[in-house]
Amino acid sequence: MELIDVINKRYSVRSYKNIPVEEKILFEILDAGRLAPSAVNFQPWFFIVVKEKKQREVMNNVYSRTWFKTAPVVIIICADHSMSWKRSNDKKDFADVDASIAIDHMTLRATDLGLGTCWVCNFNADECCKVLELPEQIEPIALLPLGYPDDSQPVRKRKPLEEIVFLEKFGNTFSG
Ligand SMILES: Cc1cc2nc3c(=O)[nH]c(=O)nc-3n(C[C@H](O)[C@H](O)[C@H](O)COP(=O)(O)O)c2cc1C
Repeated sequence: MELIDVINKRYSVRSYKNIPVEEKILFEILDAGRLAPSAVNFQPWFFIVVKEKKQREVMNNVYSRTWFKTAPVVIIICADHSMSWKRSNDKKDFADVDASIAIDHMTLRATDLGLGTCWVCNFNADECCKVLELPEQIEPIALLPLGYPDDSQPVRKRKPLEEIVFLEKFGNTFSG
């Protein structure tokens, strides 16, 4: 698919078919995350794949929504704060930004391969760290359910470009 077609086709899939995701396809999606850019190329991320029945069920306590249970695979994208770049002048930690780019790469590659995903951040982070036994410096950023979509793309709602793009308006950008 053309990149623009993939971008247009991706949406948050909240219903999945009861069919497994082939290993080869799964690794293609994970590899797209691996290839994402990161600050100073530190790659401060880990991708935890949950697909075995028992562990998969455990993840339903981390984010308990009926639709989430239908996803055969969940990828937990974690950021390692001990590995991420911190801007020297204000110590801003870019771990979340780096992890988010990797997630977006995965969502787009999944779409390209005919699969669906949905960013999930409204999960129980404490429970997630507990069940995955994550060390202190590792933060789960998002759960990414993955599978074959069993719904259809809703009408996309986005702000128009003229509301969000400012051209040559330095100094009074947000005052209209
Ligand atoms: C950072 C982030 C967190 C999100 N968390 C959740 C979530 O916890 N549960 C959920 O159902 N959708 C979640 N979403 C999906 C958004 O609701 C969705 O991307 C948005 O409504 C736009 O719809 P679209 O993805 O279909 O284009 C999240 C998206 C992002 C980018």
